[in-house]
Amino acid sequence: MTDKKLLELAADAAQRAYCRYSHFSVGAALLTDGGEVFTGCNIENGSYSLTVCAERTAIFKAVSEGFINFSAIAITGGAGGDLSSPCYPCGACLQVINEFCKGDFRIILTDGSYTLDELMPNRFKL
Ligand code: THU
Repeated sequence: MTDKKLLELAADAAQRAYCRYSHFSVGAALLTDGGEVFTGCNIENGSYSLTVCAERTAIFKAVSEGFINFSAIAITGGAGGDLSSPCYPCGACLQVINEFCKGDFRIILTDGSYTLDELMPNRFKL
């Protein structure tokens, strides 16, 4: 699986974003150590705080199917479906990534690839 292909899968997932309140579409494609891919989109709710981000949708789909070892996630998103600017993961999603992944986990954005260590250097771990 290439970074480019994983980003394409994230862009496909962004098309399925349910974002009628923010009109900000996000898609994610999560790669397991074994090569499986789980995609996710943001799913908003009229009770705003119940919204789930694309990254967490992908991670929760994977974990619920028995996959907990991941090597990378591609993320893309933007206002009105415009995916031309990089979309960085929010702190909540980084914290969920931290639950399952080590510092070398790769976060692939449209402006390049980062590690979890780079985007969240000091992380809470229970
Ligand atoms: N969103 C994500 O899907 N991922 C992030 O990391 C940040 C924000 C979504 C949530 C909401 O539906 C929309 O973007 C605007 O905040």
